[in-house]
Amino acid sequence: MTLLFVNARQLVTCAGAPRARVGGEMRDCGIVVDAAVAVVNERIAAVGTRALLEAEYASATVIDCGGGVLTPGLVDSHTHAIFGKPRYEEQERRAAGADYMEIARRGGGIHASVRDVRSRDVADLLALARPRLERLASYGTTTVEVKSGYGLSIEDELKILRVIKQLASELTMRIVPTWLGAHEIPREARATSETRASYVKMLREEMLPLVVSEHLAAFADVFCEPGVFTIEETRDLLLAARISGLGIKLHADELSPSGGAELAAELRAISADHLAAISAGGIQALAKSGTVATLLPGTMLFLGKGTRPPARALLDAGAAVALATDFNPGTSPTPNLPFILTLAVSELHMSVAEAMLAATVNGAAALGLADEIGQLAPGFSADLALFEIEDIRELPYWYADRRCKRTWVRGKACHSSDLPIT
Ligand code: NIG
Ligand code: FE
Repeated sequence: MTLLFVNARQLVTCAGAPRARVGGEMRDCGIVVDAAVAVVNERIAAVGTRALLEAEYASATVIDCGGGVLTPGLVDSHTHAIFGKPRYEEQERRAAGADYMEIARRGGGIHASVRDVRSRDVADLLALARPRLERLASYGTTTVEVKSGYGLSIEDELKILRVIKQLASELTMRIVPTWLGAHEIPREARATSETRASYVKMLREEMLPLVVSEHLAAFADVFCEPGVFTIEETRDLLLAARISGLGIKLHADELSPSGGAELAAELRAISADHLAAISAGGIQALAKSGTVATLLPGTMLFLGKGTRPPARALLDAGAAVALATDFNPGTSPTPNLPFILTLAVSELHMSVAEAMLAATVNGAAALGLADEIGQLAPGFSADLALFEIEDIRELPYWYADRRCKRTWVRGKACHSSDLPIT
């Protein structure tokens, strides 16, 4: 199957080295005008002038981009998309003065989602997750990382990971699974330091081997935060995960600084995520380690926090910066990755080129996929997104709007705005 994409006003190629971009490399997202893209089977075969490619791929199926902007499919490298009911009541509690961590201490927050997910079966969770992922896709996302973390028992965490595996096999979207058994200390294990330690031991010695033997995850993640998992517990779990063959990620320095970024750098984690409370030392450590700093500014906005992740300081220090939604029922219920680009430009002072590279190439790097997705360049997977705009600067500009028209994954049609979104 050969496809020829023509009549895009701009191609945003993001072409360049197949690794996370840093510093000056973030200045240019590779915009070309009046160019076409040829796709053969699952891969991009050529990017060049329309006339040349029309001659070379004369029998291709032509896809008219209608004067829109064609980009690499967006990469949302941090979500918690498997959950039951939404938690809108917590938003109002916060508006009335309650704090996120205080709600959690009273049994709400992650604990509320855990109670809910434990009561649901696989079929129920699948039925809830499918339309939510389709919604993410409808904004231009073609790759999504999905974490477990609302089970917190062997049975329930495996149930969530099996749901993610099933979705990966049935949906066109590319799905990357992450085990987050260390999302919270479950209520039943919080009683004493012994019960807490035995939860961590169970994660390491019982749950992790099962996750690995059933091939249920590519990455392990830990919510490293004061009041949740300590630096020592996080190190212990992630070292075990790495020895078992998983890549490692951290929720680090989200709400208060605790050395999470420094730990991510020490462990050479593939990414350290959140970082709204990162220290100056943490910024330097990430820049040196090559660990991708995945920023989730939607979370701070939704929680009503005045703080924002220090994107400029990270970029200026030479750290690799990615952007993601953190899509979850408690702190960031948005499927809209272009809206995160708006926050990146308007609040984090990133340029549009930096934001685009952060949501494509660097998101791919945060998932170990920088040589496969994130670029419109020969040899890369044919994962593309077409937006109804004339200039890529309109993507963050029309904020919270949905400008995505169509997406393709591995050369196969994924989302189309002509289809109803359930
Ligand atoms: O990334 N920080 C931990 N996990 C999520 C929130 C999960 C929840 O509140 O349900 C996050 O913000
Ligand atoms: Fe998260």
